[in-house]
Amino acid sequence: MVKVDYSGAAAFFSGSGPDYALAKQAHTILAGRTGAGADFLGWPELPKKIRDTELDRIIEAAEKIRSRSKILVVIGIGGSYLGARGAIEFLRPAPAAADTKVLFAGNGLNPDYLNDIISQIGEQDFDVNVISKSGTTLEPAVSFRIFRDLLKEKYGTRADEHIFATTDARRGVLKSLADANGWESFVVPDDVGGRYSVLSAVGLLPMAVAGIDVRRIINCAIAEFEALSVMSEENPAWQYAAARQNLYSGGRKIELLACFDPRFRWMAEWWKQLYGESEGKDGIGIYPASVEFTADLHSMGQYIQEGERILMETLVRFDECLSPFQVPADESNADGLNYLAGRDLGEIGHVVENAVMEAHISGGVPCMTITAGRRDEEGFASLVCFFEMACGISGYMSGVNPFNQPGVEAYKKNMFRMLGKPGAI
Ligand code: PA5
Repeated sequence: MVKVDYSGAAAFFSGSGPDYALAKQAHTILAGRTGAGADFLGWPELPKKIRDTELDRIIEAAEKIRSRSKILVVIGIGGSYLGARGAIEFLRPAPAAADTKVLFAGNGLNPDYLNDIISQIGEQDFDVNVISKSGTTLEPAVSFRIFRDLLKEKYGTRADEHIFATTDARRGVLKSLADANGWESFVVPDDVGGRYSVLSAVGLLPMAVAGIDVRRIINCAIAEFEALSVMSEENPAWQYAAARQNLYSGGRKIELLACFDPRFRWMAEWWKQLYGESEGKDGIGIYPASVEFTADLHSMGQYIQEGERILMETLVRFDECLSPFQVPADESNADGLNYLAGRDLGEIGHVVENAVMEAHISGGVPCMTITAGRRDEEGFASLVCFFEMACGISGYMSGVNPFNQPGVEAYKKNMFRMLGKPGAI
């Protein structure tokens, strides 16, 4: 389980500090499925369910894809995209020679981006995993039409064997197409919203194709959700949810998620969707933003240190790096770096993390830390389960329904009208 330390935020708390009574109430509503959006509370049970249903088939499909294709094109957007990308960039940033490369399409409409993917595929064998719960989202639907045509050109009558559809169990255009064409299908469960679906086939099939040990992730996630179900002030999900809600009520409107590992970048994008879509509604909500250190200390660092005091900062850190790297000694010491010679970059990084937190706290930014073990399957699962549980609790604490997203429909309505979709108003 991750550890939360909010001592760097304590001086900024208002009232009597994090409201654990409210956290307990929110957690009770969540666990008892008695609050708004209760129909979408299948995610804490998802790891167990997937282990007992689709996991073996997901791994078999991934092995089939890995054995025959150099590329898997994953088509999806939002919750049908960010979890898989977050996991792969985090755990498999540099694919091994045997790994099938995973490329992402359908997360926008830019033709140049699409053409780049098509050129990257070139003459190589490829498979497609189209992911859409509704089956009607425009961006992935358009991309899928294009990649389906490419598969037909390349594989003719065998094109259907190269399509894997992850969608609703019963409804939607994609489900009908999958049934009609015999595509191997996986399920986005009814009671799991897109942004909570990374531990279903939505995230697991692309991850397994990338060479990630998804069984290890699921086994760990089962234990993590069990541990996070405890009704206690020791529960890190309570600590994080209660601390950030307290800071928000004191005027800290923006939360910066920071990490010193650049491979965390897409995990931060996943986190932004999880928290932004869950909490930003009814005219309230912490705005989730992210920074990548140390790079952003040389750009956003100025604002964090001295800009408007509306920020809170949450640093994701790891107990240990996966590999050591010592700073070499240099006889001339012309660059003056010999004071670091022989020291491990991971150890230096930890010192810098502390230095940055100390500076930001003294500059008036409340800082919390979330510590996971390592950047491996267990570390990933512990972060995902923790952030999901804390998000549900935090959302209920703020009084919103953390499981709907009515605001995302507004642009779609305009878009369909302006594009001339039949029946659009
Ligand atoms: O979290 C959500 O519900 C959204 O981000 C959806 O996942 C996203 O809009 C894609 O929807 P769909 O999977 O239906 O194509």
